[in-house]
This record gives sequence, structure tokens and C-alpha cells, in this order.
Amino acid sequence: MNNVLYRSRISGTGSYLPEGLITNKYLETLVDTSDEWVRDRTGIKHRHKVKDGQVTSDLAYEAAIIALKEANISANELDMILFATVSPDQIMPNTACVLQSKLKAGDCMALDVSAACSGFVYALAIADQFIKTGPLKNILVVGAEVLTPYVNYKDRDTCILFGDGAGAAVVTRARPDDESTIYSHHLHADGEISDLFVLPAGGSKMPFSQEVLDKELQYVKMKGREIFKHAVRTMSKCCKEALDYNQMSADKVDWVIPHQANVRIIQAVADHFGISMDKVVVEIEEMGNTSAATVIVAMDKAIKDGRIKRGQNILLTAFGAGITSGSLLMKY
Ligand code: ACO
Repeated sequence: MNNVLYRSRISGTGSYLPEGLITNKYLETLVDTSDEWVRDRTGIKHRHKVKDGQVTSDLAYEAAIIALKEANISANELDMILFATVSPDQIMPNTACVLQSKLKAGDCMALDVSAACSGFVYALAIADQFIKTGPLKNILVVGAEVLTPYVNYKDRDTCILFGDGAGAAVVTRARPDDESTIYSHHLHADGEISDLFVLPAGGSKMPFSQEVLDKELQYVKMKGREIFKHAVRTMSKCCKEALDYNQMSADKVDWVIPHQANVRIIQAVADHFGISMDKVVVEIEEMGNTSAATVIVAMDKAIKDGRIKRGQNILLTAFGAGITSGSLLMKY
């Protein structure tokens, strides 16, 4: 907290999950799996899916208007839009600009943040830095994904995990008497193990071609078991860093909101961290892994149903393709 001009706080949140559902029972008709296996090994009951024509910025728009209303500001008061996603509407223009236009948010700066499932935590940290140093006062931070087009519904390793969804938070300059504030963030990446989770085609390395389609390289590929280990290790490390930095003991944390990738990963992090699952927000059953959206959707749901209250200490943590990871500690 030294050498900063201002502090930031979350003044509003919103989330939106599209209506379509992909149930475990439905996946049983596509691949060799079972509802029991998927619930047992991942904690997921169903994931949401967009309807035809619905794109990432549409989901983000729905979440953003709820967050803006709660923050009691209009879109043209925004100074910046940060859009965390790995499933943009298009590679160009960035989806933050598309959302800016849909929200009629004037000419504020707008950019996408690509850090996979850590994207929302990364973007929230960037927003906090911009508020701290001034002169920006209101930043919209979005985590939104339409992942279902990148999933191979013949690959049982991945098709059971991913879904579509969006969450948004308005980050605002705190008044001097505001108790609620972002304390710190700790972000990391390890590009040496980037091969654990990849989308092979569609970039400059492998532009789309008939061969890409023939080899089904337009879909995500994952080394699930190895990711599992790194996920537990990196999220536990980032949580410890947050507590050490703030000289806070784990019992002072009211809620941990981890990336929702697999309930067993979440349980292992809670064990490592020495925190009861009663203090961990788990929403994976109803939404699966929505990458950059999971943390903010889980947070918004826990705020709206009254679990999270103003004045509580909240620890966000995430990991994702890259491999990226991070934590962010705040008083909500
Ligand atoms: N249905 C039934 N059986 C399956 C399925 C399935 N969908 N998938 C795998 N199996 C089988 C395997 O073939 C294996 O069988 P075998 O023992 O006969 O060889 C057995 O189940 C165990 O397989 P594991 O891979 O060891 O299963 P595990 O318990 O590790 O669960 C899972 C797999 C769910 C993928 C887990 O490893 C996981 O969640 N990993 C993390 C994935 C993740 O988070 N990815 C995204 C990270 S980045 C981001 O979030 C964007």
C-alpha cells in the first residue's frame, strides 16, 4: 500500500450464463463416459451453452449491465474496459472494443487480456494498478468465454469440462473512508510448460486449412492429470504469497474463490491452505469450467445469494493455460 495515490474497490458485479445446457446424460450419448464418473471426478453436473449466433461479447454485455447498475454508474462514465477471454468474438477487433460499442461506453480505452483461466484475476490486478496511480476512476473488468466451439465432443478428456458464461466487475476509486479495498495481487506464469493445455490452430503458427480440420486441430488439447498437479501447486503458492504479503493468517480469510476447473482441485487447494470447504465458493456443479469467467461468476453468485458480505476478506485464486496463475486479496 506504499507509494500509491489511491485505492480501488469493487463497486458492482454481474454474471450471465446462457440458457442452453449440456448435461452429463447428454455427454453419455456422445462419448464413453457416465454421469457418475463426471460428477465424481470433476464435480460437474452440467455446463451452459450459447444459442446459435450468441457470441462472447453478448454474454459479457448481459453481465456488464448488471455490474454497472449495481455500481450506480452509466457506461459512459467508464475510463477503461478490460476483457479477459481466450474465446474472443474475432481475433480482430478486440472484444473489449465490441463491448464498448454495445454498452455505448464512449471512447474509453478498451483491451483484451489473454491469460486463459487466470484472465479475470490478471485483469482485476491491472485495473487495480491503473486506479492506484490515477487518474482513472471506473474500470469495467470482464471475464467471458464461449468455449463450446473449441471443444471436440468426441474427446471425453475435454468435453466433460468446459462451458460458456460471463462475469463482470466495476472497479472504482475508493473514497478515503471506504473500508472496502483491493489489498494485493500476485501473478505468475510458467511458459516452460505451455504444452499442457493448447489450442493448436488458428494463430500464425498454424493458420486454418483443410489439414487443420481433417486433424481436428481447431479444438483444445489437454494433459489433464499434469494440469491437475500444477493447478494445486500454483494456486496454493499464490494464496500463501497473498497472506504472507499482507501478514494475514488463513483464519482471517472469510471466502476463497478459486478457479472452478475441478472440485477435486479446489478441495486439494483448500487442504493445502488449511481452510475449510465451508469457506470456499464452489459453483462448478452448475457451470463447469468457463475459463476466465469462473472466478467472477462464482463471486457474483455468492454476493447475490448473501454468502459474501461487505467488509469480508476475499481471496481470489486462479490458474490457466500458459501456465498462468495468480491470487488477489481484497476486503469486499
Ligand atoms: N469418462 C470416463 N472415464 C474417463 C474419462 C471420462 N470422461 N476421462 C478419462 N477417463 C478414464 C481414463 O481413461 C483413465 O482410465 P484408465 O485408468 O483405464 O487409464 C481413468 O479415467 C483415469 O483417468 P485420469 O486422467 O487419471 O483421470 P483424472 O482423475 O485425472 O480426471 C480430469 C481427469 C477430470 C481431466 C482431471 O485430470 C482434471 O480435471 N484435470 C485438470 C483439467 C483442467 O483443469 N483443465 C483446464 C486447465 S486450464 C483452464 O482451466 C483453461
